[in-house]
Amino acid sequence: MARRRRWGLGAGLAAPLLPLALALLLLAARDATEARSINHVHDLSSELYSEIRELMQRALHQRDEAVPCLAELGAAPAPAHPRLVPSWPLHGPPPLGQVAGVAVALNGFPVVFHRGARVFDSKSFNDSHHFQFVDEGPIPEDTVLTLDPDNGDVLTGWGRDLFFMPHSITIDNRGNTWLTDVALHQVFKFAPGSTKPNLTLGQEFTPGPGKHQLCMPTDVAVASTGEVFVADGYCNARVLKFDPSGVLLRLYPQGNDLQLQVPHSVALLERLDMVCVADRENMRVVCPSAELRAQPAPGPPATVKAEDLGRVFAIAAYGDYLYAVNGYTADNIRVGGFTLDPASESLIDRWGPPQGMSNPHSVAVSPDGSALYVAEIGPNRVWKFNLPQAL
Ligand SMILES: *[C@@H]1O[C@H](CO)[C@@H](O)[C@H](O)[C@H]1NC(C)=O
Ligand SMILES: *[C@@H]1O[C@H](CO)[C@@H](O)[C@H](O)[C@H]1NC(C)=O
Repeated sequence: MARRRRWGLGAGLAAPLLPLALALLLLAARDATEARSINHVHDLSSELYSEIRELMQRALHQRDEAVPCLAELGAAPAPAHPRLVPSWPLHGPPPLGQVAGVAVALNGFPVVFHRGARVFDSKSFNDSHHFQFVDEGPIPEDTVLTLDPDNGDVLTGWGRDLFFMPHSITIDNRGNTWLTDVALHQVFKFAPGSTKPNLTLGQEFTPGPGKHQLCMPTDVAVASTGEVFVADGYCNARVLKFDPSGVLLRLYPQGNDLQLQVPHSVALLERLDMVCVADRENMRVVCPSAELRAQPAPGPPATVKAEDLGRVFAIAAYGDYLYAVNGYTADNIRVGGFTLDPASESLIDRWGPPQGMSNPHSVAVSPDGSALYVAEIGPNRVWKFNLPQAL
């Protein structure tokens, strides 16, 4: 905390990433006429691939100290109106499966968690929430893909043969990647550059309401001090708070203080000491105290509800504000993006691509607050927006 850095967070990474950028530029030039495919990077000679990978990992490992996020910086920036980057991805959408989650790495590179050829539909789970296609094995494609923030190309990938039904991805301010899998009923933490989980929450393929179980966990938010909040999820209608080593600290709701109906996304507003939950089927965002401070603010949770907000699928924190996306609710409710101010319990802005969105499922803001990404499930794609005022 003492050696807190300010805005130019990416600067320290620029140097080690230069050779990578050059290598990729050369490749891009060489392959400009070829159809691009998800296997693009893997088709390259394995030497070049491992070189790129090593550079990426070295860049990540340089971040041995926690990077401040917007919440830790002095003044709360006003929320910028997200402006679509129309020519992104530059070469057309890469061939992704259902893009369940999007996050932004510390270096500003968007990272998606997608389902490859697997599709989440009404047959995926039975009435007791067990995944019905365990026999098909884990998804054989790389499910975690890093995209180029400038042109949207797939740069690197990992996460094949590990996941059954990806749901969300979160990258914390130490560069750890947190993934939720609703088929496994588990949450995984991966240290930077590692493909073996550092921490696992929940029991494999075993949904349940117990304190060591999860049931289709939907999302994770991690405090700058390391506490972990898990939205759990499609069947348990609760949020769990863990200490950094995975010890359960508390459950939301406690008693009757909060009724959730599919908590689908979770985000922290640390300056306000709020943990905000996209309470999807209640068509609202509700923000109880995160209790990260010794003396949490008393009183009922802040709630944002509005006639056109509809079913809130995902939220992302930006200073004291939230960016949100909804899903289909009713014919007269637009599917799109919203900016919310939980402190005043109000919806303050609406945004989205001019052509509209169909099934947005995840939203993420870059650590420096300059870009916002939305991932969709059918059509499977990622949108990039600039947040101009934050620069
Ligand atoms: C759901 O499937 C699991 C295993 O696939 C099975 O053990 C369980 O009994 C099934 N539940 C229902 C309600 O059919
Ligand atoms: C997870 O990371 C922590 C901190 O680096 C380390 O102490 C611990 O041994 C790791 N656990 C596993 C299971 O890798």
